[in-house]
Amino acid sequence: MGYGGGQKVVLITGCSSGIGLRIAVTLAKDEKKRYHVIATMRDLKKKDKLVEAAGDAYGKTLMLLPLDVCSDESVEQCINSVKDRHIDILINNAGVGLLGPVESISIEEMKRVFETNFFGVVRMIKEVMPDMKKRRSGHIVVMSSVMGLQGVVFNDVYTASKFAMEGFCESMAVQLLKFNVRLSMIEPGPVHTEFETKMMEDVAKMEYPGVDADTVRYFKDVYLPSSIDIFEAMGQTPEDIAKCTKKVIESNSPRFRNLTNSLYTPIVALKYADETGGLSVNTFYNLLFNFGPLMHITMSILKCLTCSCLRRRTISPN
Ligand SMILES: NC(=O)c1ccc[n+]([C@@H]2O[C@H](COP(=O)([O-])OP(=O)(O)OC[C@H]3O[C@@H](n4cnc5c(N)ncnc54)[C@H](OP(=O)(O)O)[C@@H]3O)[C@@H](O)[C@H]2O)c1
Repeated sequence: MGYGGGQKVVLITGCSSGIGLRIAVTLAKDEKKRYHVIATMRDLKKKDKLVEAAGDAYGKTLMLLPLDVCSDESVEQCINSVKDRHIDILINNAGVGLLGPVESISIEEMKRVFETNFFGVVRMIKEVMPDMKKRRSGHIVVMSSVMGLQGVVFNDVYTASKFAMEGFCESMAVQLLKFNVRLSMIEPGPVHTEFETKMMEDVAKMEYPGVDADTVRYFKDVYLPSSIDIFEAMGQTPEDIAKCTKKVIESNSPRFRNLTNSLYTPIVALKYADETGGLSVNTFYNLLFNFGPLMHITMSILKCLTCSCLRRRTISPN
């Protein structure tokens, strides 16, 4: 353990808003003061919301450092400025979304998503892992998504970036276990944060060059209303995800995969129930194009179907 009083040092990326901010505050306000939280963000000018939410914990159990996960130099400088480079728990939370028909998205924009969501995580793990391996202890947590397990129409590139990260983590976890370093992924469904707002703002500005009229219509008139319904019916709060994350890092035997929303358990199960992939592709097709107008009812049925046995398969915030 790295700090006075036996506190565990937790470094979190992307703490200017949303889930990262809430995890930082939740851990810094731990009743038993078990954590020394290093909350990082790429632009410290955005610190006010976090500082306000942290209240008394700021300067005591929570400190701030600048960190841009897309820059080798920034990552190295940040970790070097941590006392003895000692980090017990690394929480890779920083991420960006990308929504819309693939024909209208430039390769540059797609690379930006991979640079943050995939290489950002790899860069952090490469910097922190050697010290954890030497000490034969540590826990790396990665904020994945249900979209790291199941593709979602019009989220093609974001989904691909999370799949890439899941593959990387699945491979790394085996090696790390040999060094007594744990790796866990948190896999939320929709969460009400600026992520959703930013994506909807981006979509409003989009002009869809090179996209045929039918695809634009399916995206704007079929997908977007369904997506808003799903967020309303299934959305969790950043507090829910922070509580789940705290449970994962406090577990004696942390699970590798942690779905936070039991409503997604049946959706993810479709993939494993039919290895040809037909069941999930056809179910998503029907949900969107045939039952789209009935999405409200579909969501309610799904909620009813989600019995307690499925809930046990997820990490619950309560
Ligand atoms: N919201 C959802 O529905 C949902 C669902 C599943 C998984 N997730 C995942 O949860 C994580 C957090 O998302 P959120 O919902 O809390 O969204 P958010 O409110 O937009 O927060 C994203 C955070 O990542 C930071 N970030 C972006 N690029 C960065 C970079 N290069 N270096 C350092 N920080 C960077 C942002 O900083 P700036 O303020 O500087 O941009 C912000 O602090 C993401 O990995 C996301 O994929 C979200």
